[in-house]
Amino acid sequence: MKEKVILAYSGGVDTSVAIKWLQEKYKVDVIAVTIDVGNEKDFKAVRQKALKIGAVKALVIDGKELFVKYFIFPALQANALYEGQYPLATALSRPLMAKLLVDKALEEGASTIAHGCTGKGNDQVRFEVSINALAPQMKIIAPAREWGMTREATIKYAQKHEIPIPVTKKSPYSIDESLWGKSIECGALEDPWIEPPADVYTWTKSPDEATDKPQYIEIGFDKGVPVSLDGKEMGGIALIQKMNVICGRHGIGRIDHIENRVVGIKSREIYEAPAAVTLIQAHQALEAMTMSKDQLRFKQKVAIEYADLIYNGLWFSQLNRDLSAYILSSQRYVTGTVRVKLFKGHVTVVGRKSPYSLYNLSLATYDKGDKFNQKAAEGFIHLWGLPVKTQAQIQLLGDKEGPLSIVGPDEEEK
Ligand code: ARG
Repeated sequence: MKEKVILAYSGGVDTSVAIKWLQEKYKVDVIAVTIDVGNEKDFKAVRQKALKIGAVKALVIDGKELFVKYFIFPALQANALYEGQYPLATALSRPLMAKLLVDKALEEGASTIAHGCTGKGNDQVRFEVSINALAPQMKIIAPAREWGMTREATIKYAQKHEIPIPVTKKSPYSIDESLWGKSIECGALEDPWIEPPADVYTWTKSPDEATDKPQYIEIGFDKGVPVSLDGKEMGGIALIQKMNVICGRHGIGRIDHIENRVVGIKSREIYEAPAAVTLIQAHQALEAMTMSKDQLRFKQKVAIEYADLIYNGLWFSQLNRDLSAYILSSQRYVTGTVRVKLFKGHVTVVGRKSPYSLYNLSLATYDKGDKFNQKAAEGFIHLWGLPVKTQAQIQLLGDKEGPLSIVGPDEEEK
């Protein structure tokens, strides 16, 4: 009996060629597994294509529910943005795919998992670190990293083996899509000086061409998770899908990022993430109202670590569990509604309310009803400024350059 290989199959050229290539090179039976993370493909056609090329079995797994619950929402609760910009759509989907591939491999009695990543990207790292963590006995093959074919050679190989390649003019871009966003690279985008050509964007309207009429939407959150849109309760998948459409129409969520890959290179990637960008901004606004200054500051640091961990492929680490526990705990009172204005590429938070709001009008107001004890400010300032005052008398005021000068000790000596 031939050994079985589970191949993470997207339906694209590389993974299609990989079916044949694995059979030829390794003499294995290939089971193609396609995971639906909200990338709206014709999954029936993808399945049939895999079978036609020679897969012994072709399966489609709907991962959307798990993706939202265990990956997207925790990332939203954290406000996770890699390098302050990228909402991590691709990065978040890989550990889930790895988990589902491992489950399938065990179920099918397969010894090996194969994926279509090249040797230059982050996704190979995310897949393999995750697979190794979940099933260390599993062998891994990365055909596209191994075969050393150029794009052209791959297409020739496909033609030679009658592997169907989309007849439409092939997009010059490498694209990855999921519920949380679309990632686009290659082609003209490799020159960081070039403005992304219009055809890069398919989820978002150009802000120039978006309607002149602003739209207001209200997002309801329960413990940091979005649960309603304009007062209508909605499941996570539907809510994200709907927001991608609405916010995309207003040109929201375009990101142009020169990012630092795990493998040491800088790359330029364009993202479209209308729902992610809007939800993160709204969520942050609700946190600003319901969390203390110290919580907010500390949580920002956690978010940086969490985003890095996700980007770097370390999902199945204990650090993730530790950080997740903190993030979840922090969301206890992040419940309420945020009103945002969508207009020509911009999301503006224009209103927020919460039963747990820490905003206290009788403390904040300058009008009547003021309960703030202004007399107490005097004593507070005295103690708050005491260390500054003490230090100034001993050091700053004796400085011959005067209190405004900034000189390093070296220059002082001259
Ligand atoms: N740079 C992004 C990441 O590392 C996306 C990678 C996939 N991009 C693509 N265009 N296929 O998560």
